[in-house]
Amino acid sequence: AVERTLSIIKPDAVAKNVIGQIYSRFENAGLKIVAAKMKQLSREDAEGFYAVHKERPFFKDLVDFMVSGPVIIQALEGENAVIAHRDLMGATDPKKAEKGTIRADFADSIDANAVHGSDSVENAAIEIAYFFGTEVYSR
Ligand code: CMP
Repeated sequence: AVERTLSIIKPDAVAKNVIGQIYSRFENAGLKIVAAKMKQLSREDAEGFYAVHKERPFFKDLVDFMVSGPVIIQALEGENAVIAHRDLMGATDPKKAEKGTIRADFADSIDANAVHGSDSVENAAIEIAYFFGTEVYSR
């Protein structure tokens, strides 16, 4: 089914100047960008976005990292978009990510892991609304 997913290019990948290379991977996989923006997240933005991880030991480091520089946030649309995007990203820990995935190619550590992607269609809807409200386009 055609789905939407929320994708974030994290501060490490923005700093490495690989935004275009990552966008090309989305496009080559048939994922359309239906909303996009660059944003310097506030702590409140990052803590709210990652609220499900609030009790995890890595929460503070995760928030510190996500506010360390601007991110690029996009909603992607395509056939099985949630899984398709997760396949492009590779495993959360870049050391475990398959060759040719975004994290294997661009990420340095489990925190500086280049990209975020929604883990389900339900969470994608929540995450897209969190950053874009209803401002998502049909194209
Ligand atoms: P992301 O998909 O953005 O969701 C939560 C983030 O927490 C994850 O990517 C990692 O960057 C970060 N993180 C740090 N340590 C861990 C961990 N042990 N397990 C899962 N995520 C972690």
